[in-house]
Amino acid sequence: MTNDVPRGGDAPLGFETLAIHAGQEPDPRTGAVVPPIFQTSTYAQDAVGEPRLGYEYARTTNPTRDALQECLAALEGGRRGLTFASGLAAEDTLLRTVCGPGDHVLIPDDAYGGTFRLFAKVAGRWGLTHGTARVSDVDAVRAGMTDRTRVLWVETPTNPLLRIADIAALAQVAHERGALLVVDNTFASPYLQQPLALGADVVVHSTTKYVGGHSDVVGGALVLSDPGLADELAYHQNAMGAINGPFDAWLTLRGIKTLGVRMDRHCDNAERVVEFLSRHAAVTGLYYPGLPEHPGHEVAAKQMRRFGGMVSFRAAGGEAHAIDICNRARLFVLGESLGGVESLIEHPGRMTHLSVAGSPLEVPADLVRLSVGIETVDDLLADLEQALA
Ligand SMILES: Cc1ncc(COP(=O)(O)O)c(C=O)c1O
Repeated sequence: MTNDVPRGGDAPLGFETLAIHAGQEPDPRTGAVVPPIFQTSTYAQDAVGEPRLGYEYARTTNPTRDALQECLAALEGGRRGLTFASGLAAEDTLLRTVCGPGDHVLIPDDAYGGTFRLFAKVAGRWGLTHGTARVSDVDAVRAGMTDRTRVLWVETPTNPLLRIADIAALAQVAHERGALLVVDNTFASPYLQQPLALGADVVVHSTTKYVGGHSDVVGGALVLSDPGLADELAYHQNAMGAINGPFDAWLTLRGIKTLGVRMDRHCDNAERVVEFLSRHAAVTGLYYPGLPEHPGHEVAAKQMRRFGGMVSFRAAGGEAHAIDICNRARLFVLGESLGGVESLIEHPGRMTHLSVAGSPLEVPADLVRLSVGIETVDDLLADLEQALA
């Protein structure tokens, strides 16, 4: 997978090259090969009305954030990237830019609990309505669209059941109705999947996850190609102010450089974990789009480079057993979040997805979710062996 940025007028640059270089030219003054952390709130201006290089105030623009935004845009094959204090801040800015009271948003019936909470509990109070649909079923999505649907919001793979949405097909469904297709690409990362090339209008990231990759910084991003919408979003990014700080942008950019190699190892390790779990008597259901029997496997194989590092499974002994497995794991750290170099285990029903209890997004009580890290895989398998015993 390559991006269209030309190298010396001929071959486009590869993903890993862009991850290391896009937006990250050596500093023109000192030659520093790593973009400096511009820890400043304001900039000296050359004269009234003449900010130097356009930098006026750091909520509006900051060179460290610019570097991250440019890099993310290149990695997603988009024209503009905008980064935020968290994934939810990015989502909120997008929603309040493109939607108004009375509009409708169609969201997945399996999605990050915080995203559901934003739509149902926060945006709902301001007159935005929402419906849910199974995003792996194109007809169900089409049936869920209304005349007021402004946004079709998709995660693929979904969190935590790892359902697969056909991005190209859903882009058509959205565009037929004059809606935007927004794809939360957090689980796949741009290394595994590039939704804009498949017809999506906006890509959303919690960069807290694979993009940052080291569980040391919270952040979010929007990437898109439409220049008019990009300007509107940039206006709202400044007007609403949910920006990430320069040190957070720098940490995220440092993580991005190794995204490709990390994702390959996440996928290698996840495949071994899936193989182990598929033979284990304590596992009754196994969710991984790389499995040939996964209902979304064919679509995933078409639109993803590989199948990612997230794996969910159901425990034979029900909820108590699922909780017990989470509590017994040692190397797999019991914790929320995902996508870092270290493996994490969690019980979605009581942790990340507590806020969807009683809603159409409620998750099975016996579900365990793994974020498979990049440790030595035999150590991970040994830990699962003892946790499931
Ligand atoms: C798929 C997905 N989207 C968005 C978010 C929200 O991102 P953040 O926690 O950075 O606000 C999360 C968080 O877990 C997530 O898993």
